[in-house]
Amino acid sequence: MAAEDIKKGLAGVVVDYTAVSKVNPDTNSLLYRGYPVQELAAKCSFEEVAYLLWNGELPNETQLAEFTARERAGRALDPVVKSVVDSLPTTAHPMDVCRTAASVMGARHELAEDSSPEANMKKAIDLWAAMPAIVAYDQRRRHGQEAVEPREDLDYSANFLWMTFGEEQVPEVVEAFNVSMILYAEHSFNASTFTARVVTSTLSDLHSAVTAAIGALKGPLHGGANEAVMHTFDEIGIRSEESLEEAATRARAWMEDALARKKKVMGFGHRVYKHGDSRVPTMKAALDKMIAHYGRPELLGLYNGLEQAMDEAKAIKPNLDYPAGPTYHLMGFDTQTFTPLFVASRITGWTAHIMEQVASNSLIRPLSEYNGPEERQVP
Ligand code: COA
Repeated sequence: MAAEDIKKGLAGVVVDYTAVSKVNPDTNSLLYRGYPVQELAAKCSFEEVAYLLWNGELPNETQLAEFTARERAGRALDPVVKSVVDSLPTTAHPMDVCRTAASVMGARHELAEDSSPEANMKKAIDLWAAMPAIVAYDQRRRHGQEAVEPREDLDYSANFLWMTFGEEQVPEVVEAFNVSMILYAEHSFNASTFTARVVTSTLSDLHSAVTAAIGALKGPLHGGANEAVMHTFDEIGIRSEESLEEAATRARAWMEDALARKKKVMGFGHRVYKHGDSRVPTMKAALDKMIAHYGRPELLGLYNGLEQAMDEAKAIKPNLDYPAGPTYHLMGFDTQTFTPLFVASRITGWTAHIMEQVASNSLIRPLSEYNGPEERQVP
């Protein structure tokens, strides 16, 4: 087989249909079930978007009330899951904690072996509703703090922040968090979603597929990039006394040096978007609001300096993880918690794809071209 016939990384290969989302790199657009993600981020709650991804349509008032009631009823931290989390060392990466928790929830689910559409919808909502408590508690236990009980009077985003910080956040912060959850929710056949679909295609169960997807998301070429962006900022050095311009100058110098050393800088580039990520302008606007809210112009300096130097040197544009990382930092999340926040959001997209895969399944099993030793005999 000719080398060019081998589609390494499956780049450019279309493997199936999907009605969940459409990524159009030529027009820099992303549609969830036909709706532009920017419009959803401006007008909807994350709960409405989750409903849309799973059901194909936005909810009416009655449907939304019933749906949010289900989400709010499923928020408590299961004591068994909590004890498993407590048994894991705080040296474990929070993504390992999330992955383990998803697996435990699967093993304990009353419909564990049922992959009917009704069972899968229930499992998806249960996982989605429960994950914030796990992410929030895991951050808290690393600071020696107790778990915070969920509040039924708060929406998903406000409650997530409440359970993490034990304080109610102002509406601007809740709104920026809501926007990030919507933008992270779904992105067609990315690596973790494809992983979930591969697992589902063997007729395995929803929790197994999500557990595997969390493993795929952890890597810095995928979801782990939002965490890696903050490591870059830390490496350059965040100096709160510095002006925007001073920070930008240091960031530019760092980027020029990194590129001269052929370093891959996380938070830039994308397999599908080559002229910019459709989600970045909306997330950058949320970051700008958080920078103004917390009064941290030096972070904008670092952001601008890196972005400009990368653009001038290689014309590679930021991806969603680039503005999301510093936004979560400003809100007070630990850097290692950033990718678990992505998990909490992407559970919606993953499970929408899992249900789509079940509904029209074909085992995903590609071929490979052998390039090992010729056949030989055992001496
Ligand atoms: N920093 C520096 N150079 C980069 C780069 C980055 N973040 N992303 C791409 N490039 C360069 C590559 O070095 C390569 O250059 P070359 O042709 O001179 O070797 C070229 O751009 C193509 O990159 P490649 O990695 O082959 O493209 P891809 O489509 O396989 O990769 C990513 C896409 C996302 C894996 C890649 O851009 C990357 O590693 N980005 C950083 C991780 C990240 O932010 N991931 C989150 C994605 S949402």
